[in-house]
Amino acid sequence: MKKNYTTIKIAVCSAIAGLLIAGITSCGKKDPNSPGVEFMPDMYRSPSLEYYSVHSVDGDTIYNAKKPVKGTVARGYMPYVYDNNAEGYEAAGLNLKNPLTARSREDYEKEGEVLYGKFCVHCHGATGAGDGKVGGKLPGPPPAYNGTLKNLPEGKIFHSITYGKGTMGSHASQLTQEERWKLVYYVQKLQGPKEVAKDSTAAAPTATIAAKK
Ligand code: HEC
Repeated sequence: MKKNYTTIKIAVCSAIAGLLIAGITSCGKKDPNSPGVEFMPDMYRSPSLEYYSVHSVDGDTIYNAKKPVKGTVARGYMPYVYDNNAEGYEAAGLNLKNPLTARSREDYEKEGEVLYGKFCVHCHGATGAGDGKVGGKLPGPPPAYNGTLKNLPEGKIFHSITYGKGTMGSHASQLTQEERWKLVYYVQKLQGPKEVAKDSTAAAPTATIAAKK
């Protein structure tokens, strides 16, 4: 019995010593990032081509991250040609028209209303009066759609949603172009019927500026 006890003690001590040695030696490696002994190298070294990296395959250098071919655009993406400045704003107001015409205006308005409830209502308010919970707290609350902004043309509405204006940030990264155009329909609904027959830009001094092609 006594002998057995001693044997267990020796076994435990040598196990601890072994662990200590293993611990010390594993910490003493030259490369701290090395995984140590590789029992199954395939688990550490993937044979597949990793994304965003450069590979050498049969003597050819392959760049995984490829830039789009010059002069091409991604499917479904329409480049926006109006610059984020006063000229671009005026030009958009004159030339930019809502491309969503496949379905009825009411259809788009309904979808625009849903988006408006998610992205705009907290500032602009349910009726677009500029009295949203956040809007009222801004240093300059948003002007009313059916007041100051009543005659704002569709191109300018789209331009301002895209780039932002004043304390309103750009919504280009949150909303696709199509969604922004749906919002334009809804903002126009809140604007109500226009007061003048022509767009407010018609009288603007910069009216002659054409869109950058
Ligand atoms: C953080 C608050 C805020 C949010 C969110 C916001 N707006 Fe605005 N918006 C403003 C303010 C403030 C102005 C007035 C900017 C100015 O004229 O300086 C404004 C102006 C506008 C204008 C008039 C732009 C012009 O050319 O005069 C339109 C149209 C508009 N917003 C639409 C939207 C739509 C659509 C959304 C939702 C996608 C939205 N806004 C989200 C605060 C906001």
